[in-house]
Amino acid sequence: MCGIVGVTGTDRSLSILIEGLKRLEYRGYDSAGVYVNDLHGHDYLIKRPGRIANLEAALTDDINGLAGIGHTRWATHGGPSEANAHPHYSSDNRFYLVHNGVIENYAQLKKEYLGEVTFRSQTDTEVIVQLVDKFVVENNMTTEAAFLKVLRLISNDSSYAFVLMDREQPDTLFVAKNKSPLLVGLGDGYNMVGSDAMSMIKETKKFMEIGDHELVIVKPDHVDIKDFTGNDKTRNPFEVDIDANSADKGAYPYYMLKEIDEQPAVMRKLVQQYFGDSDQPQINEELLKSMAESDHIYIIGAGTSYHAGLVGSRIFERLCGVPTSVHISSEFAYEQPLLSKKPFFIFLSQSGETADSRQVLVTINENKWPSLTITNVDKSTLSREATFTELLYAGPEIAVASTKAYTAQIAVEAILAKAFGEFIGNPEAKKFDVKHQLGLVANGMQAITDSKKTLEEVAARFLSKPRNAFYIGRGIDWTVSLEAALKLKEISYVQAEGFASGELKHGTIALIENNTPVIGIITQDRTAGLTRSNLDETEARGANIITIVSRHLAQEDDTIVLPDVDQMLSPLLSVVPAQLLAYYTSLGKGLDVDKPRNLAKSVTVQ
Ligand code: AGP
Repeated sequence: MCGIVGVTGTDRSLSILIEGLKRLEYRGYDSAGVYVNDLHGHDYLIKRPGRIANLEAALTDDINGLAGIGHTRWATHGGPSEANAHPHYSSDNRFYLVHNGVIENYAQLKKEYLGEVTFRSQTDTEVIVQLVDKFVVENNMTTEAAFLKVLRLISNDSSYAFVLMDREQPDTLFVAKNKSPLLVGLGDGYNMVGSDAMSMIKETKKFMEIGDHELVIVKPDHVDIKDFTGNDKTRNPFEVDIDANSADKGAYPYYMLKEIDEQPAVMRKLVQQYFGDSDQPQINEELLKSMAESDHIYIIGAGTSYHAGLVGSRIFERLCGVPTSVHISSEFAYEQPLLSKKPFFIFLSQSGETADSRQVLVTINENKWPSLTITNVDKSTLSREATFTELLYAGPEIAVASTKAYTAQIAVEAILAKAFGEFIGNPEAKKFDVKHQLGLVANGMQAITDSKKTLEEVAARFLSKPRNAFYIGRGIDWTVSLEAALKLKEISYVQAEGFASGELKHGTIALIENNTPVIGIITQDRTAGLTRSNLDETEARGANIITIVSRHLAQEDDTIVLPDVDQMLSPLLSVVPAQLLAYYTSLGKGLDVDKPRNLAKSVTVQ
């Protein structure tokens, strides 16, 4: 959701900006723009609606610079257009600003200070750049002082990552953030800022964190950090170990297919990372002690991560015997339930940047409650701000539809539950050989991804035409049906629902008509027969039935048969056919599988 890149101190600035923006494409966007300045009085601003390719097509050979800012915009205030695209600039063409986030009090600031100004866009961002200009020109303030004054006027509930440039100090990037992600990248003789490390990874592995409510001045040869009262702060850089090539698509037509296929390797990597040569998971003992002091585990997440939490809660309760509840972060943030006396919080987030989840973590930290973030992105905001972090080791996930992060989240939850259950002496944990099971899961995933042809045919036959579809199941199969339906709706635009199969007859069965696809997930001994009966009820009303069934429960006419693993880990397998069904349905409709409409990979606004 909006990507930002900035650079100062190199004649490769324009290409660094474009490369960075391309690496941020996964976040979702609908327009793009760059501003570059050659430090000798020439500057260029180019913005285009649509893809970065449109922006590149508009770049002529004479456009170059030694410093600049770039932006991919995901529309919030005003539709996607050249006028609403960033960078935004002041009426006198002196200041240029890119922004990720939402300024909640922009209308009030506009009314109070900028009544005379003619605006070129409908954005909240333009208000900020015009306001900086006003304070510099009318109040004779320095740019730094004016920017600081504007930052103090922005309401606390707003979110922003800003990079501001001033034509009169063209080698300087004025940077600030609140809630939205932004990092400094330290190059050799030049410096950068970017929404994530991947956007700068071709240039450097050395980064510097930016805290909320800090003003950061980035020059080619140094970086100054101050708090909002003007006090200097010091900060050590950190290094990240990411392979710049791991985010490439290789021979795959879409990232999503590559990421689905990577799942067996991710399972094996997790075993290697968390077990090494041991049979016991290697988990930070301080984390286990902190969990042991709690009386209730609260799992917080959004979208797919929330769905992974629904599976995880069942695993924690079985292996650890500790009550575990799961909450949608955007709900928890504003309707906090009555909590137990000693809560422990687990945040699930692939990106580690989701604003809704971060909002909850802010409250958790205010109350000094312990927390763990399970994320794919080391040093991401949720990782930095939680007490503990455990990583997913899934490699960059670029497709908007999350696949390998979901299965990695469940696997890490299972590894943690095993370690914690044993730490507190729960016999169920001792009995459960998660290392062996994850090996079986990896092989099972491989077998499913090897049978793509069947899934492509099922998608073409049953899912290409209908407007609606249902995934149904009971217990843990129901939680997978929620994730399966989310996959289908987000990339193929089929209105799909995941449903507890026993609930159908209480209302929803009224929606079943001739040829409505109903996909049953059946992996649990206790509920298999009941879900089959519920499928029969829909078939009797005209539905087309598709079944995803564990081998030991399979019948002759089942559609997709899954290898057997421990039933608690069956979601790691049953979700894979659903991911592939969504992929082939989207592909068959000629849609952009990796970048579905209206969606962003990293949802950094609330
Ligand atoms: C799922 O395919 C979506 N991309 C979305 O639901 C995602 O899981 C959600 O936005 C949470 O993201 P996070 O894991 O990065 O916090």
